[in-house]
Amino acid sequence: MASASLGLASKLSPFSKTNFLSSADLNSNQILSLFELAKQLKGGNRRIDLGNRVLGLIFKKASTRTRVSFQVAMARLGGQTVDLNPQVTQLGRGEPIKDTARVLSRYCDALAIRTFSQQELEEYAMWSDIPVINALTDHEHPCQALADYLTIQEKFGTLKGINLSYIGDGNNVANSLMICGAMLGVNVRVCSPKGFEAASDVIEKARSLSEFGSNISIFNDPLKAIKGSQVIYTDVWASMGQEEEYNKRKEIFEQYKVDQKLIDLADKDVIILHCLPAHRGEEITEEAIESKNSYVFEQAENRLHVQQALLAVQLGGL
Ligand code: CP
Ligand code: NVA
Repeated sequence: MASASLGLASKLSPFSKTNFLSSADLNSNQILSLFELAKQLKGGNRRIDLGNRVLGLIFKKASTRTRVSFQVAMARLGGQTVDLNPQVTQLGRGEPIKDTARVLSRYCDALAIRTFSQQELEEYAMWSDIPVINALTDHEHPCQALADYLTIQEKFGTLKGINLSYIGDGNNVANSLMICGAMLGVNVRVCSPKGFEAASDVIEKARSLSEFGSNISIFNDPLKAIKGSQVIYTDVWASMGQEEEYNKRKEIFEQYKVDQKLIDLADKDVIILHCLPAHRGEEITEEAIESKNSYVFEQAENRLHVQQALLAVQLGGL
């Protein structure tokens, strides 16, 4: 492909080794280049052979989309994945990350890690000689945000000036949407109940990275947040690791359900996104997720294409 702009492998991340720990590890040019490559891969116009490279998967939480899309992405790139479930490795018996990371660096070519704390992910990155990818932490879900903005770009033909309203908990998915969206010129409105707003340091980080006039704003009232939105986004009310808070959160978030009443207040061409898995009848109604406005399966599919592009860059396939 003619993409000189894709000669970005050596500068993908300020954290070196082309890590992708946060949405902030890519700049807007790099993200848009990844989207171009993802679209070529999706359309069958580009083949990349990584030649037997191996991606290790360390997942401390359940996953369907992230795990399988990484596995299929590596298979399509001529590589492989190895499942390093902490329950069947010495990690589960307390082997330190600094030892595990240095050993795995000698077997694998990259690691995709899903865990709880961002600090733990950063510790892996610090001790690894190979790229580390954030496959979701409590703090961020940067691969998800790439797929989300690729989906929006495909639908609207542009990202600049798009109004995206995220209705729900101000945590990992919202954080990556703010940071990535700010760089792409998307106006991201995050609407959460009082006490569940995104952390102020993440909001400030997103604002500091804002390009093309992007505006990052915080709301508590969904009826106000939704006005003029081209994208409505929601996520579960109780994330993985918050199961004990489920009943309390169900009451607190009741007014934050994406239903037809809310959708009617948005732009007439609005699309509805959800990272999935969805809890129908809670954060989104069955009617909304199954409506013609819903792009959740296009969005889920794009996890594969954009992660395949990311891996191709990180593993030197270009
Ligand atoms: N959206 C997402 O990350 O889904 P999984 O938890 O199934 O990977
Ligand atoms: N916020 C959700 C996202 C799942 C993809 C969670 O962390 O469980």
